[in-house]
Amino acid sequence: MSLDLRHWLKKVEEMGELRRVAGADWDLEIGCINRLNAQAGPRNALLFDPVKDYPEGYQLLTSSLSTPSRTALTFNLPHDTPENELLDVFRKKLLVWQNEVTKYPPREVKKGLVTENVNSGDEINLLKFPVPRWHDLDGGRYIGTGCAVITRDIDSGDINIGCYRIMLHNRNTVGFYSSPGKHGRIHYEKYHEQNKSCPVAISIGHHPLIFAVAGVEFPHYPASEFGSLGAVLERPIDVIIDEVTGLPIPADSEIVITGWCPPDKSLPEGPFGEFTGYYGSKQGLAPIIDVQRVYHRNNPVLLGGPPERTPGDHTYYLALLKSAMLHNVLINNGFPDVKKVWVDEMGHQIMAVISLKQRFAGQSKQIALCAAQSRALPVGRYIMVVDEDIDPANIRDVIWALCTRTDPIYDIDIIQRAWFSPLDPTVPERPAITLRSKAVIDACIPFERLNDYPDPIRTDPALIQNVKEKWGKALDLH
Ligand SMILES: Cc1cc2nc3c(=O)[nH]c(=O)nc-3n(C[C@H](O)[C@H](O)[C@H](O)COP(=O)(O)O)c2cc1C
Repeated sequence: MSLDLRHWLKKVEEMGELRRVAGADWDLEIGCINRLNAQAGPRNALLFDPVKDYPEGYQLLTSSLSTPSRTALTFNLPHDTPENELLDVFRKKLLVWQNEVTKYPPREVKKGLVTENVNSGDEINLLKFPVPRWHDLDGGRYIGTGCAVITRDIDSGDINIGCYRIMLHNRNTVGFYSSPGKHGRIHYEKYHEQNKSCPVAISIGHHPLIFAVAGVEFPHYPASEFGSLGAVLERPIDVIIDEVTGLPIPADSEIVITGWCPPDKSLPEGPFGEFTGYYGSKQGLAPIIDVQRVYHRNNPVLLGGPPERTPGDHTYYLALLKSAMLHNVLINNGFPDVKKVWVDEMGHQIMAVISLKQRFAGQSKQIALCAAQSRALPVGRYIMVVDEDIDPANIRDVIWALCTRTDPIYDIDIIQRAWFSPLDPTVPERPAITLRSKAVIDACIPFERLNDYPDPIRTDPALIQNVKEKWGKALDLH
């Protein structure tokens, strides 16, 4: 598979899932189109060109990862994999990719598609890219939403790639918001503790696989996310060493910016419409990056992935990946009786439902607590475990189990002072430390009652078949 975004676009167009939009306004209109497309539309990928006020060829892509077919295509899987098989396919593939993270280390090359244009000094002008103001109360235009922020640990030299929101301040300065505990933040804090500027590279236009891997806690140890990208591609990813920062940057990206995050400078950042569906926090001071280099292809494509109230631009891919990742974490922790995990798109990683085959007393609580503290689900606030007859992805099943198998005083446990995102709307203001509670809901039939719990109303499959044959047509029963 190629990491050239243009190949991806061609394939998506052949699949009939690409819509070109000419003349849309970067100021709120594109954000609104993208929102309607995700919430009420067919969820096609949208390629904006030209954007109002910008020359033709300065393009913006959104909704790259909002369907099963495009998520599969992006991850080097057959795009026609049936939707109901994708969860299992991803679970198996994640194990393969995790085993192969060291197999394809990034390969250094001298030039790539992104070096078609290299700007430095006065040539740098980030305003030449069609950066949207996505939501009406945003404090500015956000150039990094579907982005990949590359940093290095000052001690170990480990490279990290994470997706953190990037606000455009002016032609050569951006602001950078990474939550406490995220690797990008740990990296710049370590430089700043030594009063040093932290080198940062940000890919802001690229194949959606780079965004997809940067935006989740992809299992990549002992390598970096570059190793995961190689494992998915089944070949090394080509990187160029940026002369300014010494950081590796994807050679075939559309647009990459590099520079320094100084210890003694910050600028007002936010508010920004966030993944919870709220403007998570008011404006606050956040670190900046003095941009020293801009690399871009001719006719560059900026990749947008704005957060929204669910369902949003990329919440489908997150639901699928988080479900598969959490399931694998539970199996690896010694819980083979976990049957299915679903982190529904509407809860945007805040709620997970796990079904299991109960074998011993206390097992359901072990599984729920393990999931509640897993790094695969950092913002998991409600973790529910259910019996294997309940489908975690079926909201009707889940509510029925919750309502008929729980006694709140015994079955809901509260974990206090757990990690949570400062962007949580229940947090009053962007605090230095965010600790929130989490609820673990055991909606399994109590183990000691498994044999005497009232029988649920069930219908013999043979009877269903007979009834459908006899009455189905007349009564429209399916
Ligand atoms: C579209 C999108 C936007 C995100 N924005 C942020 C952000 O602004 N700040 C942040 O800390 N995490 C953000 N995240 C979550 C991180 O990218 C995610 O937790 C990732 O695993 C962080 O990498 P790390 O664990 O290596 O730090 C975002 C994720 C996505 C998919």
